[in-house]
Amino acid sequence: MPTIAVVPGDGIGTEVIGEALRVLAAIAPDAQTEVFDLGAERYLRDGTTMPADVVRRFGSEFDAVLLGALGDPRVPSNVHAKDILLGSRFQLDLYINFRPCKLLDARYCPLKHATEADVDFVVFRENTEGLYTGVGGQFKRGTADEVAMEQEINTRKGVERIIRAAYAWARQNGKTRVCMSDKANAMRHGHDLWQRVHKEVAAEYPEIKSSHLYVDVLAMRLVQAPQDFEVIVTNNLFGDIITDIGAALQGGLGLASSGNINPGKAALFEPVHGSAPDIAGRGIANPFASILTVGMLLAYLGRPADEARIQKAVQRCLKDGQVTRELGGTLSSREATDAVLAAL
Ligand code: NAD
Ligand code: IPM
Ligand code: MN
Repeated sequence: MPTIAVVPGDGIGTEVIGEALRVLAAIAPDAQTEVFDLGAERYLRDGTTMPADVVRRFGSEFDAVLLGALGDPRVPSNVHAKDILLGSRFQLDLYINFRPCKLLDARYCPLKHATEADVDFVVFRENTEGLYTGVGGQFKRGTADEVAMEQEINTRKGVERIIRAAYAWARQNGKTRVCMSDKANAMRHGHDLWQRVHKEVAAEYPEIKSSHLYVDVLAMRLVQAPQDFEVIVTNNLFGDIITDIGAALQGGLGLASSGNINPGKAALFEPVHGSAPDIAGRGIANPFASILTVGMLLAYLGRPADEARIQKAVQRCLKDGQVTRELGGTLSSREATDAVLAAL
């Protein structure tokens, strides 16, 4: 019986997770969920962002965490999101941000002539260091002489384990191409480390064709020739950016799912999108990203057949045009989920 901690969070996070939980209940009635009241509302109410015992419980008492989104215009510092989302990633050491980009129906791809087979790659985004650690500082803030520094952290351990995870996954899943992306031409210290570690790890996988692209060229190639890619591995910030390009290739943020994983230890699954304040509260957000995220979570818990069923059901809805407005449909979040449940 899987136990799942649920953090709906803010904005459309609460709406799409509500829908995703209906699908979870239908497909895995044995799953036990505990919903955590964490997010902007809680922070504004009592100042709590992420209690230490909750992060600890996420790692020790639950098989996985399902999260919606965090971010609220009433909290401009975004402190709660940093503590809850980045806090979970860092404290649970969820070093793999696994983000598949798979086109389920060609009509939603913005590229002319793209077929479903053309967009089918996964991104391994480093998730515990890079430019995200908050290391840095401000000096003479608010004066004409002010200085603001954001340090990029690249450790041998961190770089090696994400590159290794990408190659190991490629091998396990019968993939033949891995592309590492950095900006070593401009970032001579940290990204030189990526270059050296990549060469070492790639040498252990002679059957896999390894390649390298600077991230600017990767951004272009993803749009021009997504079919060239099977597995991409990159750092935290570049991974954030290119997976929004990947989301666009799939049909938008309403369809992109992700897992934050430390294999065998802890995992947190979430849609790639944010809290979308521009559409929050209207019941029109696309729930498919969160529903597909539930599939990914179940596969992680050893139920790949459930993931396949969920993916097929969502694909059926996409084919039938049973979709929310941003994809050209007329359905509300609830109606789109009803369509998935019917297809299941
Ligand atoms: P966003 O992903 O929330 O929205 C970007 C655009 O995509 C918006 O126009 C939105 O309406 C649309 N969109 C996103 N998800 C959608 C869905 N399911 N259905 C239909 N349309 C959808 O990004 P943003 O506007 O840059 O960020 C809003 C807030 O969310 C910020 O506070 C940001 O920090 C936060 N954020 C959180 C996460 C997370 O919790 N993992 C991820 C990204 C952004
Ligand atoms: C994501 C989000 C987060 C990130 C933000 C909310 C900090 O954009 O999960 O993609 O950049 O990792
Ligand atoms: Mn992002």
